[in-house]
Amino acid sequence: MSMKKIIAVAAATVMTIGLAACSSDAAGTGGGSEGSVGISMPTRSLERWINDGEGLKAQLEDAGYSADLQYADDKADTQISQIQNQIASGVDVLVIAAIDGELLAPVLADAKAQDIAVISYDRLINGTPDVDYYATFDNYKVGQLQGEFIEEQLGLADGAGPFNLEPFAGSPDDNNAKFFFSGAWDVLLPYVENGQLVVPSGKAPASNDDWASIGILGWKSDSAQSELDNRLGSFYTGGEKIDVVLSPNDSLAQGIAASLRSAGYTAGTDWPLLTGQDADKASVVNILAGEQSMTVWKDTRELGNVVFGFIEAIMAGEEPEINDTETYDNGEKVVPAFLIAPEVVVKDDVQSKLIDSGFIQASDVGL
Ligand code: GAL
Repeated sequence: MSMKKIIAVAAATVMTIGLAACSSDAAGTGGGSEGSVGISMPTRSLERWINDGEGLKAQLEDAGYSADLQYADDKADTQISQIQNQIASGVDVLVIAAIDGELLAPVLADAKAQDIAVISYDRLINGTPDVDYYATFDNYKVGQLQGEFIEEQLGLADGAGPFNLEPFAGSPDDNNAKFFFSGAWDVLLPYVENGQLVVPSGKAPASNDDWASIGILGWKSDSAQSELDNRLGSFYTGGEKIDVVLSPNDSLAQGIAASLRSAGYTAGTDWPLLTGQDADKASVVNILAGEQSMTVWKDTRELGNVVFGFIEAIMAGEEPEINDTETYDNGEKVVPAFLIAPEVVVKDDVQSKLIDSGFIQASDVGL
Protein backbone atom coordinates (compact mmCIF):
# COMPACT_ATOMS: atom_id res chain seq x y z
CA MET A 1 0.00 0.00 0.00
CA SER A 2 1.55 3.34 -1.08
CA MET A 3 2.25 6.05 1.46
CA LYS A 4 -0.41 8.10 -0.39
CA LYS A 5 -2.99 5.43 0.28
CA ILE A 6 -1.81 4.97 3.88
CA ILE A 7 -2.20 8.70 4.57
CA ALA A 8 -5.64 8.62 2.94
CA VAL A 9 -6.63 5.55 4.98
CA ALA A 10 -5.17 7.06 8.14
CA ALA A 11 -7.08 10.31 7.56
CA ALA A 12 -10.28 8.38 6.87
CA THR A 13 -9.67 6.26 9.95
CA VAL A 14 -9.10 9.29 12.16
CA MET A 15 -12.28 10.79 10.72
CA THR A 16 -14.16 7.55 11.40
CA ILE A 17 -12.90 7.31 14.96
CA GLY A 18 -13.73 10.99 15.48
CA LEU A 19 -17.27 10.53 14.19
CA ALA A 20 -17.72 7.35 16.21
CA ALA A 21 -16.47 9.15 19.32
CA CYS A 22 -19.16 11.82 19.01
CA SER A 23 -22.01 9.39 18.42
CA SER A 24 -22.94 5.87 19.40
CA ASP A 25 -21.18 3.37 17.18
CA ALA A 26 -24.07 2.58 14.86
CA ALA A 27 -22.26 -0.29 13.22
CA GLY A 28 -21.72 -1.86 16.64
CA THR A 29 -18.22 -2.83 15.58
CA GLY A 30 -16.69 -1.10 18.59
CA GLY A 31 -14.08 0.59 16.37
CA GLY A 32 -11.08 -1.71 15.97
CA SER A 33 -9.11 -2.23 12.79
CA GLU A 34 -10.13 -0.73 9.48
CA GLY A 35 -9.46 -2.38 6.17
CA SER A 36 -10.74 -4.94 3.77
CA VAL A 37 -9.12 -8.24 2.77
CA GLY A 38 -9.87 -10.53 -0.16
CA ILE A 39 -9.10 -14.20 0.57
CA SER A 40 -8.85 -16.52 -2.45
CA MET A 41 -8.63 -20.25 -1.72
CA PRO A 42 -8.39 -23.09 -4.31
CA THR A 43 -11.09 -25.54 -3.29
CA ARG A 44 -13.32 -26.81 -0.52
CA SER A 45 -12.77 -30.40 -1.69
CA LEU A 46 -9.51 -30.70 0.25
CA GLU A 47 -9.96 -30.33 3.98
CA ARG A 48 -7.02 -28.13 4.78
CA TRP A 49 -8.22 -25.24 2.61
CA ILE A 50 -11.50 -25.08 4.53
CA ASN A 51 -9.48 -24.67 7.75
CA ASP A 52 -7.20 -22.10 6.12
CA GLY A 53 -9.92 -19.90 4.62
CA GLU A 54 -12.46 -19.97 7.43
CA GLY A 55 -9.78 -19.61 10.11
CA LEU A 56 -8.26 -16.50 8.54
CA LYS A 57 -11.64 -14.91 7.80
CA ALA A 58 -12.75 -15.36 11.42
CA GLN A 59 -9.45 -13.99 12.76
CA LEU A 60 -9.71 -10.90 10.54
CA GLU A 61 -13.36 -10.23 11.35
CA ASP A 62 -12.72 -10.65 15.09
CA ALA A 63 -10.11 -7.91 14.72
CA GLY A 64 -12.57 -5.59 12.95
CA TYR A 65 -11.46 -6.07 9.35
CA SER A 66 -13.89 -7.02 6.61
CA ALA A 67 -12.92 -10.23 4.81
CA ASP A 68 -14.32 -11.71 1.60
CA LEU A 69 -13.57 -15.44 1.30
CA GLN A 70 -13.88 -17.17 -2.06
CA TYR A 71 -13.26 -20.79 -3.14
CA ALA A 72 -12.62 -21.46 -6.86
CA ASP A 73 -13.41 -25.18 -7.12
CA ASP A 74 -9.87 -25.80 -8.37
CA LYS A 75 -10.62 -23.84 -11.57
CA ALA A 76 -7.91 -21.27 -12.35
CA ASP A 77 -10.18 -19.05 -14.46
CA THR A 78 -12.76 -18.96 -11.66
CA GLN A 79 -10.07 -17.91 -9.21
CA ILE A 80 -8.94 -15.10 -11.53
CA SER A 81 -12.46 -13.70 -11.86
CA GLN A 82 -13.02 -13.95 -8.11
CA ILE A 83 -9.82 -11.97 -7.55
CA GLN A 84 -10.94 -9.40 -10.14
CA ASN A 85 -14.19 -8.96 -8.19
CA GLN A 86 -12.28 -8.50 -4.94
CA ILE A 87 -10.09 -5.86 -6.60
CA ALA A 88 -13.21 -4.09 -7.89
CA SER A 89 -14.71 -4.18 -4.39
CA GLY A 90 -11.75 -2.12 -3.17
CA VAL A 91 -9.89 -4.53 -0.92
CA ASP A 92 -6.67 -3.29 0.63
CA VAL A 93 -4.97 -6.68 0.72
CA LEU A 94 -5.31 -9.91 -1.30
CA VAL A 95 -4.41 -13.28 0.25
CA ILE A 96 -4.15 -15.91 -2.52
CA ALA A 97 -3.50 -19.68 -2.44
CA ALA A 98 -2.97 -20.06 -6.20
CA ILE A 99 -4.53 -22.91 -8.16
CA ASP A 100 -2.06 -22.31 -10.98
CA GLY A 101 0.78 -20.10 -9.83
CA GLU A 102 1.75 -19.24 -13.43
CA LEU A 103 -1.54 -17.59 -14.47
CA LEU A 104 -2.05 -14.66 -12.09
CA ALA A 105 0.36 -12.03 -13.46
CA PRO A 106 -2.27 -10.02 -15.39
CA VAL A 107 -4.79 -9.80 -12.55
CA LEU A 108 -2.06 -8.96 -10.04
CA ALA A 109 -0.91 -6.13 -12.30
CA ASP A 110 -4.43 -4.70 -11.86
CA ALA A 111 -4.10 -5.12 -8.09
CA LYS A 112 -0.76 -3.35 -8.04
CA ALA A 113 -2.14 -0.48 -10.09
CA GLN A 114 -4.58 0.09 -7.23
CA ASP A 115 -1.91 -0.20 -4.52
CA ILE A 116 -3.39 -3.46 -3.25
CA ALA A 117 -0.88 -5.53 -1.28
CA VAL A 118 -0.64 -9.17 -2.44
CA ILE A 119 0.20 -12.04 -0.10
CA SER A 120 0.99 -15.43 -1.67
CA TYR A 121 -0.53 -17.98 0.70
CA ASP A 122 1.12 -21.41 1.04
CA ARG A 123 1.67 -21.78 -2.72
CA LEU A 124 4.08 -19.36 -4.44
CA ILE A 125 2.69 -17.21 -7.25
CA ASN A 126 5.19 -17.12 -10.12
CA GLY A 127 6.04 -14.93 -13.09
CA THR A 128 5.05 -11.58 -11.63
CA PRO A 129 6.77 -8.85 -9.59
CA ASP A 130 3.37 -7.98 -8.11
CA VAL A 131 3.56 -10.35 -5.15
CA ASP A 132 4.64 -8.60 -1.99
CA TYR A 133 5.01 -11.39 0.58
CA TYR A 134 4.82 -15.19 0.84
CA ALA A 135 3.65 -17.09 3.89
CA THR A 136 4.13 -20.84 3.88
CA PHE A 137 5.51 -23.89 5.62
CA ASP A 138 9.03 -24.97 4.72
CA ASN A 139 7.98 -26.96 1.65
CA TYR A 140 11.38 -28.58 1.00
CA LYS A 141 11.41 -29.67 4.65
CA VAL A 142 7.98 -31.31 4.19
CA GLY A 143 9.46 -33.61 1.55
CA GLN A 144 12.68 -34.11 3.45
CA LEU A 145 10.72 -35.32 6.49
CA GLN A 146 8.90 -37.83 4.25
CA GLY A 147 12.18 -39.07 2.72
CA GLU A 148 13.93 -39.28 6.08
CA PHE A 149 10.95 -41.17 7.56
CA ILE A 150 11.26 -43.82 4.83
CA GLU A 151 15.06 -43.94 5.20
CA GLU A 152 14.80 -44.46 8.95
CA GLN A 153 11.88 -46.91 8.96
CA LEU A 154 13.56 -49.17 6.36
CA GLY A 155 17.07 -48.88 7.81
CA LEU A 156 18.42 -47.70 4.47
CA ALA A 157 21.38 -45.87 6.01
CA ASP A 158 22.47 -49.24 7.46
CA GLY A 159 22.39 -50.88 4.04
CA ALA A 160 18.99 -52.62 4.29
CA GLY A 161 17.15 -53.64 1.11
CA PRO A 162 16.26 -54.04 -1.63
CA PHE A 163 12.73 -52.69 -1.16
CA ASN A 164 10.06 -52.01 -3.80
CA LEU A 165 9.19 -48.29 -3.88
CA GLU A 166 6.42 -46.50 -5.79
CA PRO A 167 6.92 -42.70 -5.75
CA PHE A 168 4.19 -40.11 -6.42
CA ALA A 169 4.37 -36.32 -6.79
CA GLY A 170 1.82 -33.53 -6.44
CA SER A 171 -0.03 -31.45 -8.98
CA PRO A 172 2.19 -30.19 -11.84
CA ASP A 173 0.57 -26.72 -11.59
CA ASP A 174 1.46 -26.38 -7.90
CA ASN A 175 4.82 -24.72 -7.15
CA ASN A 176 4.91 -26.49 -3.78
CA ALA A 177 4.91 -29.93 -5.39
CA LYS A 178 8.43 -29.59 -6.79
CA PHE A 179 9.74 -28.61 -3.35
CA PHE A 180 7.96 -31.53 -1.67
CA PHE A 181 9.38 -33.97 -4.22
CA SER A 182 12.88 -32.50 -4.15
CA GLY A 183 13.07 -32.71 -0.36
CA ALA A 184 12.15 -36.39 -0.44
CA TRP A 185 14.07 -37.35 -3.55
CA ASP A 186 17.30 -35.77 -2.30
CA VAL A 187 17.11 -38.39 0.47
CA LEU A 188 15.85 -41.35 -1.57
CA LEU A 189 17.41 -41.11 -5.06
CA PRO A 190 20.86 -42.27 -3.84
CA TYR A 191 19.20 -45.47 -2.57
CA VAL A 192 17.44 -45.94 -5.93
CA GLU A 193 20.75 -45.45 -7.71
CA ASN A 194 22.54 -48.01 -5.52
CA GLY A 195 19.74 -50.60 -5.72
CA GLN A 196 18.54 -50.55 -2.11
CA LEU A 197 15.30 -49.08 -3.44
CA VAL A 198 13.84 -50.64 -6.60
CA VAL A 199 10.98 -49.02 -8.56
CA PRO A 200 9.27 -51.89 -10.47
CA SER A 201 6.97 -49.51 -12.37
CA GLY A 202 10.04 -47.66 -13.66
CA LYS A 203 8.42 -44.36 -12.52
CA ALA A 204 11.55 -43.09 -10.76
CA PRO A 205 12.43 -39.55 -11.90
CA ALA A 206 16.10 -39.38 -12.90
CA SER A 207 16.34 -36.00 -11.14
CA ASN A 208 14.25 -33.56 -9.16
CA ASP A 209 13.58 -31.58 -12.35
CA ASP A 210 11.68 -34.60 -13.68
CA TRP A 211 9.21 -34.58 -10.76
CA ALA A 212 6.14 -33.61 -12.82
CA SER A 213 6.43 -36.86 -14.80
CA ILE A 214 4.84 -38.61 -11.80
CA GLY A 215 2.62 -35.67 -10.80
CA ILE A 216 -1.10 -36.11 -10.02
CA LEU A 217 -3.10 -33.15 -11.42
CA GLY A 218 -5.25 -31.34 -8.87
CA TRP A 219 -4.03 -33.57 -6.05
CA LYS A 220 -6.99 -35.83 -6.77
CA SER A 221 -7.40 -38.96 -4.63
CA ASP A 222 -9.14 -40.93 -7.38
CA SER A 223 -6.37 -40.11 -9.87
CA ALA A 224 -3.76 -41.43 -7.42
CA GLN A 225 -5.89 -44.53 -6.87
CA SER A 226 -6.16 -45.32 -10.57
CA GLU A 227 -2.43 -44.61 -11.10
CA LEU A 228 -1.52 -47.18 -8.44
CA ASP A 229 -4.14 -49.61 -9.80
CA ASN A 230 -2.36 -49.37 -13.16
CA ARG A 231 1.10 -49.88 -11.68
CA LEU A 232 -0.07 -52.87 -9.63
CA GLY A 233 -1.81 -54.40 -12.63
CA SER A 234 1.19 -53.93 -14.91
CA PHE A 235 4.29 -54.44 -12.76
CA TYR A 236 3.23 -56.55 -9.75
CA THR A 237 1.80 -59.60 -11.50
CA GLY A 238 4.22 -62.26 -10.23
CA GLY A 239 3.51 -62.02 -6.52
CA GLU A 240 5.89 -59.09 -5.91
CA LYS A 241 4.75 -56.66 -3.20
CA ILE A 242 5.16 -52.90 -2.75
CA ASP A 243 7.19 -52.15 0.38
CA VAL A 244 6.92 -48.34 0.45
CA VAL A 245 4.93 -45.59 -1.29
CA LEU A 246 6.11 -41.97 -1.29
CA SER A 247 2.92 -39.89 -1.22
CA PRO A 248 3.45 -36.10 -1.02
CA ASN A 249 0.12 -35.42 0.73
CA ASP A 250 -2.90 -36.99 2.40
CA SER A 251 -5.41 -36.71 -0.43
CA LEU A 252 -3.13 -38.81 -2.64
CA ALA A 253 -2.39 -41.17 0.27
CA GLN A 254 -6.14 -41.78 0.68
CA GLY A 255 -6.45 -42.79 -2.98
CA ILE A 256 -3.34 -44.95 -2.74
CA ALA A 257 -4.73 -46.68 0.35
CA ALA A 258 -7.95 -47.46 -1.51
CA SER A 259 -5.94 -49.04 -4.33
CA LEU A 260 -3.87 -51.11 -1.87
CA ARG A 261 -7.04 -52.32 -0.14
CA SER A 262 -8.63 -53.39 -3.43
CA ALA A 263 -5.40 -55.22 -4.31
CA GLY A 264 -5.70 -57.21 -1.08
CA TYR A 265 -3.02 -55.55 1.03
CA THR A 266 -3.88 -55.61 4.75
CA ALA A 267 -2.61 -53.42 7.59
CA GLY A 268 -0.22 -55.16 9.93
CA THR A 269 0.70 -57.86 7.40
CA ASP A 270 1.87 -56.73 3.96
CA TRP A 271 0.76 -53.06 4.02
CA PRO A 272 3.57 -50.81 2.74
CA LEU A 273 5.01 -47.72 4.40
CA LEU A 274 2.85 -44.83 3.18
CA THR A 275 3.66 -41.14 3.71
CA GLY A 276 1.38 -38.08 3.62
CA GLN A 277 0.95 -34.41 4.53
CA ASP A 278 -1.78 -32.16 6.04
CA ALA A 279 -3.18 -34.32 8.87
CA ASP A 280 -6.51 -34.64 7.06
CA LYS A 281 -9.03 -36.36 9.34
CA ALA A 282 -9.50 -39.24 6.89
CA SER A 283 -5.76 -39.82 6.88
CA VAL A 284 -5.53 -39.65 10.66
CA VAL A 285 -8.16 -42.40 10.74
CA ASN A 286 -5.97 -44.41 8.33
CA ILE A 287 -2.89 -43.74 10.48
CA LEU A 288 -4.73 -45.04 13.55
CA ALA A 289 -5.76 -48.11 11.52
CA GLY A 290 -2.18 -48.75 10.35
CA GLU A 291 -3.00 -47.91 6.71
CA GLN A 292 -0.92 -44.72 6.55
CA SER A 293 2.43 -44.54 8.31
CA MET A 294 2.77 -40.81 8.92
CA THR A 295 1.61 -37.38 7.91
CA VAL A 296 3.55 -34.10 7.86
CA TRP A 297 1.45 -31.79 10.01
CA LYS A 298 1.19 -28.15 9.00
CA ASP A 299 -0.81 -26.35 11.66
CA THR A 300 -2.84 -24.03 9.45
CA ARG A 301 -3.66 -21.92 12.51
CA GLU A 302 0.01 -20.93 12.63
CA LEU A 303 -0.08 -19.96 8.96
CA GLY A 304 -3.19 -17.89 9.61
CA ASN A 305 -1.41 -16.10 12.46
CA VAL A 306 1.56 -15.29 10.22
CA VAL A 307 -0.70 -13.89 7.50
CA PHE A 308 -2.73 -11.95 10.07
CA GLY A 309 0.54 -10.42 11.25
CA PHE A 310 1.42 -9.53 7.66
CA ILE A 311 -1.96 -7.81 7.24
CA GLU A 312 -1.70 -5.86 10.49
CA ALA A 313 1.74 -4.60 9.48
CA ILE A 314 0.64 -3.72 5.94
CA MET A 315 -2.41 -1.84 7.21
CA ALA A 316 -0.15 0.07 9.61
CA GLY A 317 2.28 0.90 6.80
CA GLU A 318 4.99 -1.23 8.40
CA GLU A 319 7.16 -4.06 7.06
CA PRO A 320 5.89 -7.55 8.05
CA GLU A 321 8.16 -9.98 9.89
CA ILE A 322 10.08 -12.08 7.36
CA ASN A 323 12.47 -15.03 7.97
CA ASP A 324 13.49 -16.02 4.43
CA THR A 325 14.72 -13.68 1.71
CA GLU A 326 16.53 -16.24 -0.46
CA THR A 327 14.52 -19.40 -1.21
CA TYR A 328 11.52 -18.35 -3.23
CA ASP A 329 12.53 -16.85 -6.57
CA ASN A 330 9.29 -16.57 -8.54
CA GLY A 331 10.97 -15.79 -11.85
CA GLU A 332 10.57 -12.06 -11.42
CA LYS A 333 11.83 -11.52 -7.87
CA VAL A 334 12.81 -13.36 -4.72
CA VAL A 335 9.63 -13.01 -2.73
CA PRO A 336 10.19 -12.13 0.95
CA ALA A 337 8.76 -15.04 2.92
CA PHE A 338 7.95 -16.33 6.33
CA LEU A 339 8.43 -20.11 6.62
CA ILE A 340 6.90 -22.19 9.39
CA ALA A 341 8.43 -25.53 10.40
CA PRO A 342 6.24 -28.59 9.67
CA GLU A 343 6.37 -31.70 11.85
CA VAL A 344 5.92 -35.44 11.51
CA VAL A 345 2.88 -37.09 13.12
CA VAL A 346 2.73 -40.86 13.53
CA LYS A 347 0.09 -42.96 15.30
CA ASP A 348 1.56 -42.35 18.77
CA ASP A 349 1.51 -38.56 18.22
CA VAL A 350 -2.16 -38.19 17.29
CA GLN A 351 -3.40 -37.51 20.81
CA SER A 352 -0.59 -35.23 21.99
CA LYS A 353 -0.01 -33.23 18.79
CA LEU A 354 -3.35 -33.13 17.00
CA ILE A 355 -6.06 -33.59 19.64
CA ASP A 356 -4.48 -31.97 22.70
CA SER A 357 -3.57 -28.93 20.56
CA GLY A 358 -7.21 -28.64 19.46
CA PHE A 359 -6.34 -29.04 15.78
CA ILE A 360 -8.85 -31.92 15.56
CA GLN A 361 -11.37 -33.43 17.98
CA ALA A 362 -11.04 -37.01 19.19
CA SER A 363 -14.54 -37.65 17.80
CA ASP A 364 -13.35 -36.55 14.34
CA VAL A 365 -11.18 -39.66 14.16
CA GLY A 366 -13.27 -42.20 16.00
CA LEU A 367 -11.55 -41.87 19.38
C1 GAL B 1 -0.30 -28.00 -1.55
C2 GAL B 1 -0.36 -27.79 -0.07
C3 GAL B 1 -0.45 -29.09 0.60
C4 GAL B 1 -1.20 -30.16 -0.17
C5 GAL B 1 -1.76 -29.80 -1.51
C6 GAL B 1 -3.21 -30.16 -1.67
O1 GAL B 1 0.01 -26.85 -2.20
O2 GAL B 1 0.78 -27.10 0.41
O3 GAL B 1 -0.92 -28.87 1.91
O4 GAL B 1 -2.21 -30.75 0.59
O5 GAL B 1 -1.57 -28.50 -1.90
O6 GAL B 1 -4.04 -29.11 -1.47
